Amino acid sequence: MLSAEDNDLMCRVGPGTPMGDLLRRYWTPALLASEAPTPDGEPVRVRLLGEDLVAFRDTDGKVGLVQENCPHRGASLWFGRNEECGLRCPYHGWKFDREGNCVDMPSEPPQSVFKDKVKIKAYPTHESGGVIWTYMGPPEKMTPFRDFGTETLRPEHISATKLHTTCNWVQAMEGNLDTSHISWLHQFHSVPDIPDDGSDKPGYPSNPQSWKFWLHDRAPRLEIEDTWYGFKYVGVRTTPNGHKHVRMSAFCYPYITVIATVPWGCRLGIFVPIDDENCWRYSITTREFENPRNIGGPNLFSVSPFKFGRAEVNGNGIIPREYTAENDYGIDRDHQRDFSFSGVAEFVSQDLMVTESMGPIYDRSQERLGTSDKAIIRMRRQLIAAAKKVREGGEPPAVEADLDYRSIRSAEKILEADEDWRILGTNEDPTVIEMDVDGLPDRSPLPSAGN
Ligand code: FES
Ligand SMILES: [Fe+2]
Repeated sequence: MLSAEDNDLMCRVGPGTPMGDLLRRYWTPALLASEAPTPDGEPVRVRLLGEDLVAFRDTDGKVGLVQENCPHRGASLWFGRNEECGLRCPYHGWKFDREGNCVDMPSEPPQSVFKDKVKIKAYPTHESGGVIWTYMGPPEKMTPFRDFGTETLRPEHISATKLHTTCNWVQAMEGNLDTSHISWLHQFHSVPDIPDDGSDKPGYPSNPQSWKFWLHDRAPRLEIEDTWYGFKYVGVRTTPNGHKHVRMSAFCYPYITVIATVPWGCRLGIFVPIDDENCWRYSITTREFENPRNIGGPNLFSVSPFKFGRAEVNGNGIIPREYTAENDYGIDRDHQRDFSFSGVAEFVSQDLMVTESMGPIYDRSQERLGTSDKAIIRMRRQLIAAAKKVREGGEPPAVEADLDYRSIRSAEKILEADEDWRILGTNEDPTVIEMDVDGLPDRSPLPSAGN
């Protein structure tokens, strides 16, 4: 549980809040590049960390991200004209460039110098991996852009999507750092019928067998290791043949998760606060995520009866919400009784059902946490400590340019008797070393298990 005070500190991200100040020190996804595809195209409304902004791709192809309301008398610049390297307010024609300078004020006399005194809030942007990132912190404290692979892999090797979630960003992220719930929420009744393919032995199991392990041992033991980027942890399960199976996931400050997959993965789940009660769940998949030697065999979802939302991505990369609180996530009670644990037909919507139904910001003073919640507790402690440190003038963690953000990976394996899970997915992991990213054939990314 958390005190009401710490819960507030952890969840609230508006300007001037401790957690808001921490998050503003990291380059953050503001929108998908596909939402603003063409120079001088339609502006885009962006609500980010509780601030209402407008993005526009200007004549030069660069994206501006400015306050929504015109500084003259407040009309929304979203209705403005995106033309000749600036956004022009529809009310009286004041025009602003992507750096927030007022470059034209046609409603004032030509000799007026008033426009030189007017500037609007404008955040720098950086386009990488199909995402427009922004830095919203103090300019003098700007941190380097972190390369999770989006800077160094070819664009065709990266894909990005986002999904709207109607609860606080930490609450949504906690679902991804909770390995125990895959033994429950995401289970279905025909798992025992998945044929034994002989991979329940030390080494990499097949993806279909993983479902069986998750069902076989429904109370995993958690082990956590702090790292320079946050922490990584495993859920340890005993397999039907008595082996030690581990699912390793990672948390990277301040809002990134990398979820366990066979043999290892680097798909980023980024929980970006829209405001305190809504977030975007970005997913950035790099080709590195793909499995070069077909370890694991058939895709995890090939054996499940569930739909998977990423398959239905809109043209602009925004995943539509078919199942929401308004339709009770489409829960089918017959399905729940006879077919699946949740009764919800779509995989990620199962997660959304549980995290959103807590309410926009759950009162964590009411929780009763158990041993399977250790990773969530660690994440909360790290986040709160980082926010307090920055509040007291310290530096945020995991922002330095020379850190290898591409080395943050997840993994899933059945361990040999003497094998340490801590090497899995690192640059020293033989399976990682064997992989030749640039030599991969051109295939589109596969969906992975959300957690
Ligand atoms: S309100 Fe925008 S120019 Fe007047
Ligand atoms: Fe999940």
